Amino acid sequence: MRTIHNPRELQELALSVRGSGTSIGLVPTMGALHEGHLSLIRRARQSDEFVIVSIFVNPTQFGPNEDLDRYPRTLERDLDACRECGVDVVFVPSAADLYPEGFQTYVEVGPLASRLCGASRPGHFRGVATICLKLFNLCQPNRAYFGLKDYQQYRVVERMARDFDLPLEIVPMPIVREPDGLAMSSRNSYLSPEERAAATVLFRSLEDAARACEAGERDPQTLAARVRRSIEADPLARVDYVEAVDPLTLEPAASLPALIAVAVFVGNTRLIDNRLLEAPDSS
Ligand code: PAJ
Repeated sequence: MRTIHNPRELQELALSVRGSGTSIGLVPTMGALHEGHLSLIRRARQSDEFVIVSIFVNPTQFGPNEDLDRYPRTLERDLDACRECGVDVVFVPSAADLYPEGFQTYVEVGPLASRLCGASRPGHFRGVATICLKLFNLCQPNRAYFGLKDYQQYRVVERMARDFDLPLEIVPMPIVREPDGLAMSSRNSYLSPEERAAATVLFRSLEDAARACEAGERDPQTLAARVRRSIEADPLARVDYVEAVDPLTLEPAASLPALIAVAVFVGNTRLIDNRLLEAPDSS
């Protein structure tokens, strides 16, 4: 396994690998790798001949009062995990190399990026789309893997790939959870033991909505209201948003299928989760 810091060196290597007809799989990450990330890496290892993992805490997707400075950084452990998964190249660029003085061009994201997390985190998806486009140009992937925990991110990046005719496939991957249902996230390490226990409310409330849906409740907004109520009942949780949206447009959903998407502050830590609700097969 090689660790490459220099963007030009990485791009030269990627161009020659892709030029030789070898398929490249890219897993973009911000590090502090956990089983969620590793599931993407293992899938890339199965589907692609050459696997690149990028580790970069991207400053342009963090707001001024967010956790850029305290975001967990565990590079040595991350490199060990990548080695164990059979990764070919870990790309670890610096912010100075990716955003040198004079940098000024950003991807202008559309309405998909303005709702949900885009409303609470202005500029976030502009930063995400910009870094993903840069990583795609540097790494030349045939496939790039994205987790559905960040459902809106997946949709925004997939839309950008289509709108800009990027020659790659965006592959969505299922949410990996802790045994008690909490979606794995690098930010879970911020939680105190009490907050960690309370954090399962996201998963529990989404499961409860899925059961209500199976039992016959088909109105997405009623289902979302139910999720909101059960999160609000927890004294350590504060709702940022709970919404039932069309899974493709992310506009409010009037009928199933609907994605119930939640963002919740548990203490000072903002956690997200989601669940797709579909009408049970009538056959
Ligand atoms: P990061 O939060 O490190 O996540 C990297 C990838 O891992 C994303 O595609 C994310 O959806 C996926 N992932 C995280 N937790 C997961 C889980 N529990 N189950 C399945 N997949 C999971 O997302 C980012 O970094 C950044 O925004 C990035 C795309 C790297 C751009 O900077």
